[in-house]
Amino acid sequence: MSGCTAASCHGGKSLVGGEATAWLTRDVAHRRAFDVLFDETSVRMAKQLGLNAAHTEARCLACHATEAAHPSGMKGERFAVEFGVGCESCHGAAGTWVARHTERTWRSLSASQKKNLGFHDLRSMNTRAEKCVECHVGSPRATVDHDLIAAGHPRLAFEMSAYHALLPKHWDAAAELQRDPAQELRLWAIGHAVSAKALSDVAVARAEAAIKSGTTYVTPDLAEFDCHACHHDLTEPTRGRPTLRDSLGSPRWGSWSVPPARFVARESNRLFGQDGTAAESSVGQLVKLMQQSRLGIASADQLSLTARQSSADLASWSRSLENAATDATQRIPLLHRLLAVESDSEWLPTWDGQTQRYLSIIATGRSLRATERRGPFTLAADSEVLVNLRHQLTYPAGYATPRSFDPSEIDRLLRELRQSMSH
Ligand code: HEC
Ligand code: HEC
Ligand code: HEC
Ligand code: HEC
Repeated sequence: MSGCTAASCHGGKSLVGGEATAWLTRDVAHRRAFDVLFDETSVRMAKQLGLNAAHTEARCLACHATEAAHPSGMKGERFAVEFGVGCESCHGAAGTWVARHTERTWRSLSASQKKNLGFHDLRSMNTRAEKCVECHVGSPRATVDHDLIAAGHPRLAFEMSAYHALLPKHWDAAAELQRDPAQELRLWAIGHAVSAKALSDVAVARAEAAIKSGTTYVTPDLAEFDCHACHHDLTEPTRGRPTLRDSLGSPRWGSWSVPPARFVARESNRLFGQDGTAAESSVGQLVKLMQQSRLGIASADQLSLTARQSSADLASWSRSLENAATDATQRIPLLHRLLAVESDSEWLPTWDGQTQRYLSIIATGRSLRATERRGPFTLAADSEVLVNLRHQLTYPAGYATPRSFDPSEIDRLLRELRQSMSH
C-alpha cells in the first residue's frame, strides 16, 4: 500500500489523484483500525479470551487489517499489516492488478474483466455493501460473537446508509449522485438485503460445521439475538417495554438486521418495481428456525437448507435492485409508513426495532434532500423532534445499554412527527 501513496499515484493533493492522502488524513477510523489492537480494551479482550496478542491474532486481523487472512501472494508487493483497513481491504488484494492498473489499457477493461483480476467493482452498490458488511456485520470467515462482546468488543450495529454517510469520501460523491439520483435509497435497501444475507451465510457455515462434526443441533450465537431482552439496567424505565413474560421479551434472532430487511422487501415493489416476496418469506422461515435452535430443537440439516435458501433469495433480490428504476414519488408515502405507530408489527417496541426505524427515517430524509434540496420535515420543530428521538435512542456516556430508552416516549415523538408531516 505504501506504493499507492506516491505523489504521482494516489498521494496528490486534489480529489482525483489524492485518494491516499484523503484516506490518510480523513478516514481516521479505518487508518487506525490496526492501532486499536494495541489499546487497553484489545489487550484485555485477548487476555480474557486466551488469544495471542490482538495485533498478531488472525481473528482480529480479519477485520482490523488489510486482507490479512488472504494468502500473502495475493497482496500488493508493498502491503503492510500496519495500514489497518487500507486500499486493498475495499478495492481488493492488489497483487494481481497493481501493475496492470497503471497501464493505459486499464481504463478500457470492463468491470467484470477487472473483477477477474481481483479488483472489486465498488461502483456497484451490491459489491460496495458486501465489502462493508464483511467487517461490519461479519462473514463465515470472522464474526464478532457474544464471547468477544462479553470480553469488551463493541456490539456491531451496522446500517449501510448511516455508515456510508459517515465515511469520509476520497472519490467524487457528487458525480456519483448525479449518475444515480436514487443512490441513497438504493444504498439503504441494498445494505439491508446484504446484511441479512451475511447473517444467513454465517448460519449456513455454523450448520455445516455442526454437520461435519457429527452434531445434530446447532446453537446460534447470542450476539445475533436482541441483547436487551436479556440485558437491561435495573434503573431503566419499564413502562411500555416488553418483559421476559410476554413473547416480545424472549430474545429474537436477527433483531437488528432482519426486521428492516423484511420491511424493505415489502416496500420493494412500490419503490423499485422489484419483487421482494421470496426473500421476505425465506428469511422469515430462517427466523422461525433460529428461534427454535436457541431451544436446541432445530436440526443442522434443516437449518443449513433454510439458511441457504434465505441467502440465495436475498442475493437475487438484492442484485435486482442494482439498476432498477425508482419511483421518487414513493418516498413521502414511505416516510408515512415508517412513522405509522399503530400498525406496528414491524418496528417492534425494542431498542433495535426503534433505532432501525429511526435510521430508515433519516435515510429517506437524506434521499429526499439529495434530490429535492430540502428535507421532508419543513418546520424547525420537526428537526427538534428528530433530535429528541435520537437522544432517546443514544446510549448514555459510560453505558453499554440504552438506559434512558422508553418506548412510550418514542411513540409520542413519532406521533408528533407524523402530525407535522400531514400538513
Ligand atoms: C467481524 C469483524 C471484526 C472482528 C472479527 C473483530 N473486530 Fe474489532 N471492530 C470491528 C468493527 C466493524 C468495529 C467498529 C464498530 C463500530 O464503530 O461500529 C470494531 C471495533 C473494535 C474496537 C473499538 C475501537 C474503538 O475505536 O474504540 C476494538 C478495541 C476492537 N474492535 C478490537 C478487536 C479485537 C481485539 C478483535 C479480536 C479479538 C476484534 N476486534 C475482532 C470488526 C471486527
Ligand atoms: C472503506 C473502503 C475503501 C477504502 C479503505 C479505500 N477505498 Fe477507494 N473507494 C472506495 C469506494 C466505495 C469508492 C467509490 C467507487 C469507485 O469509484 O470505484 C472508491 C473510489 C476510489 C477511487 C476512484 C475510482 C474512480 O473510478 O473514480 C480511487 C482511485 C481509490 N478509491 C483509491 C483508493 C486508495 C489509493 C486507497 C488507499 C489509500 C483507497 N481507495 C481506500 C472505497 C474504499
Ligand atoms: C476490512 C474490514 C472493513 C471494511 C471492508 C470496512 N470497514 Fe469500516 N471499519 C472497520 C473497523 C475495524 C472499524 C473500527 C476502527 C476503529 O475504531 O478505529 C471501522 C470503522 C468504520 C467507521 C467509523 C465508525 C465509528 O464508530 O465512528 C465507518 C463510518 C465505517 N467503518 C464505514 C465503512 C463503510 C461505509 C465501508 C464500506 C464502504 C467500510 N466501513 C468497510 C472495518 C472495515
Ligand atoms: C439469551 C440471553 C442473552 C442475549 C440475547 C445476550 N446476552 Fe450478553 N450475556 C448473557 C449472559 C447469561 C451473560 C453472562 C455469561 C457470559 O459472559 O456469557 C452475558 C454477558 C455479557 C457481557 C459481559 C458482562 C459482564 O459484566 O462481564 C456483555 C458485555 C454482554 N453480555 C453483551 C451483550 C450484547 C451486546 C448482546 C447483543 C448483541 C448480548 N449480550 C446478548 C445473556 C445474553
